[in-house]
Amino acid sequence: MQNLIEQSADIIGNSELTLALTGAGVSVESGIPDFRSAQGLWSKYDPAEYAAIDAFRARPEMVWEMLREMDDLISDAKPNKAHLGMGELERMGCLHWIVTQNVDNLHQRGGSKNVIEYHGNSSTLSCLWCGRGYLSEDRRNQYPPRCDCGKILKPDVVFFGEAIPQDALSRSFQLASAAQVLLVAGTSAVVSPANSIPAIAKRNGARIIEINMERTHLTDTVTDVFLQGSAGTIISDLVDAVKRKTAELSI
Ligand code: APR
Repeated sequence: MQNLIEQSADIIGNSELTLALTGAGVSVESGIPDFRSAQGLWSKYDPAEYAAIDAFRARPEMVWEMLREMDDLISDAKPNKAHLGMGELERMGCLHWIVTQNVDNLHQRGGSKNVIEYHGNSSTLSCLWCGRGYLSEDRRNQYPPRCDCGKILKPDVVFFGEAIPQDALSRSFQLASAAQVLLVAGTSAVVSPANSIPAIAKRNGARIIEINMERTHLTDTVTDVFLQGSAGTIISDLVDAVKRKTAELSI
C-alpha cells in the first residue's frame, strides 16, 4: 500500500488542477453512517419512502423520523482525518476543489474552502409553501420543524426526484473536464449525475485515484490507483507523502 501512496503523491504533486469527488464514506469515521454499506442508512430506511421528494410532500412527519436521526448524528459529528487532510491539501495548493455528495458541512469544518455541494446542505431549512428560510439550529429539537406559517419545513438537501443545483452541476462538469487528477473518496458512485464525474475526468485525460473500503464499479473501469482502506487513514498518509515530496523538491 505504501508504494501506491507514494505513487499517488507523485501524481498529485505534479498536477496543476486536482479535483475530489467525495461521498458518505469520508464521514463514516465521524460517526455518520453511509447509505449502502451493510449497516448503512438504506438498510434501515427505504430511500423510496424516506428520501424521495414525493414521499416528503405526502408524509413529511414520517420522513422527519429519519431526518431527525441524521440530524442528531450530524450535529454531534466532528471533521475526521479525511476532512482535515483534504483541507490541508487545499492549503498546500495540492487539491483545488471538492465536489461532495455529503450534506454534513464537514469538509468546510475540516478547513476546505472550495467545496461544491451536489446534494445541498442540512444546516438550513426551507418552507415549500411560503418560501421562508431558517437555520436548522433555530429549529433544533422541534420535530418536525415548522415554518412560522405553520407548514412543516424541508431541509435544503436534494431529495431523489429533485434537481442538482444548476451552478453545482455546471461548475463540477467544467472542473472535471479540465482536471489533471480526480481523487474519488468514499463513494459507491451509483447515484447520477455525481457518478458521471469520474468518466468525464477520465475522458479528458485525468488520472483517477480512488479511496474506498471496497472495490466499486469504478475500480476496474476508470481507476488508475486504488487505495483500499479507510479514508481517514489513507488521506492522512497521502498528505504526509505529499509533504515529503514537496520538501524533497524544495531542497
Ligand atoms: N473509508 C472509505 N470508504 C468508506 C468508508 C471509510 N471509512 N466507509 C464506507 N466507505 C465506502 C463504502 O464502501 C461505499 O463504497 O463509501 C461508499 C459509500 O457509498 P454510499 O453509501 O452509496 O454513499 P454515497 O456514494 O455517498 O451515496 C451517494 O446516494 O442516497 C444518496 O444522497 C445520497 O449522497 C448520497 C448518494
